[in-house]
Amino acid sequence: MNPRNPLDWDAIRHDFPALFRSRNDRPPIFLDNACSTIPCQAVIDSLNDYCLNYPACGERSLHYWGRKVDEEVARARRAIAEFIHAKDPTQIIFVKNSTEGLNLVGRGLHWEKGDVVVTGDREHNSNRCCWEDLGRETGIRRKVIRRDGTHDPGSEFDVNYFLGELAETPRVKLVSLALTSNLDGYTIPSEAIRRVTAYAHSEVLRRDLKDFYVMLDAAQTVPHQAVDVQDLDVDFLAFSVHKMCGPTGLGVCYMKDPDLLERSLITGGGTVANTFDDGRAPIYLRSPQKYEAGLQHWSGILGAGVAADYLKDKMVALSDRELELNRILTEGFMPYHEKEVITILGPLDPAKRGSICTIEVHPRDEQEDMGRFLREEVLSRTDERNLMFRTGDFCVSPYCRHVRGERIARIRFSLYLYNTPDECRTALDVFRPILARRLP
Ligand SMILES: Cc1ncc(COP(=O)(O)O)c(C=O)c1O
Repeated sequence: MNPRNPLDWDAIRHDFPALFRSRNDRPPIFLDNACSTIPCQAVIDSLNDYCLNYPACGERSLHYWGRKVDEEVARARRAIAEFIHAKDPTQIIFVKNSTEGLNLVGRGLHWEKGDVVVTGDREHNSNRCCWEDLGRETGIRRKVIRRDGTHDPGSEFDVNYFLGELAETPRVKLVSLALTSNLDGYTIPSEAIRRVTAYAHSEVLRRDLKDFYVMLDAAQTVPHQAVDVQDLDVDFLAFSVHKMCGPTGLGVCYMKDPDLLERSLITGGGTVANTFDDGRAPIYLRSPQKYEAGLQHWSGILGAGVAADYLKDKMVALSDRELELNRILTEGFMPYHEKEVITILGPLDPAKRGSICTIEVHPRDEQEDMGRFLREEVLSRTDERNLMFRTGDFCVSPYCRHVRGERIARIRFSLYLYNTPDECRTALDVFRPILARRLP
């Protein structure tokens, strides 16, 4: 056994009952984990436990079931806080998903015309649409800073370049970056993030600015590697629990100063201490209640805490395991990359791409219909083998469509702790003949 990988991976697979639901006499090979992951048995048990034993509402009802929900929600908030090393559970806001977390911050900050939000060039639409909508509504501007100044698919984050560009951009109020790209799996190193947050926070003092914040879209990071929000010193961080063995439709928005935002995305029941009929504004509660309007996804929240507890001691081994699996995929695809049948997106070293291996299959000629290639040559074969992965532009639309090109078939394999070397080899066995036919 690899000493850095002390977990019993076969036993771990038994924590995920969906892995044993065969179709066409074949077990599922699920390599679409960047989208959502399989819930573990402990999470399924916690959802059942809520529905069977205390199916009531939290934060309002004083009866036994209500008190039990309150207790369990508080426990889940502590578990999530501990998982990302937040100082205090009140910094943890439960939302539907990463998208809602990013929007909560975008809609809650006070914007003035001409304020600037800086993002990268390979952001998920969830870290893009909000800024563009706000641009139209309030006159703010989005500035894109590329990883190293180029659009190169193998580029890495050059922090000196980034800080240089930042220094030349007036009126930046927020830097909002995907910590790990869902397109190619590349993670901005922690040291670079620390320099960006240190720069932002020192600028506030130096230039006597009201605000200069850093937000991380950590949808693809928190599930795969240990993240320490205090060490990174970020102001906001969003992630999705359905990408870390938890229930679907549940996410987290971490806020360093949880009372900073002027308002929540939506307001109403559960967020107010008092309301009036005489025109006075409602008096809102403090965080986290201030942001969690209406009845919550209680069972999902409880499941989030259980998912964090399930993963917390596994993170180092999990990252190593993903690298071992990604290495198998990368080595298998490399001959086709070298012969320019495909491009492996991101740095070629799998250690820099964590759980993701995305390939672009180039069209053979001007005429080839790549949609048809995917349907007739790829999906027909993989579907029958119960092999699941993602195609498309993965919500990174402008970079994929306009920079890389509309006529490319993109295929993303994304891994998690229950995947196996054999599954990766099976995926390669299915893809090799498809790609071999395209060799020059
Ligand atoms: C980097 C990144 N950001 C944001 C999202 C949006 O996540 P959700 O759909 O859970 O809101 C995703 C989803 O894949 C993602 O990969």
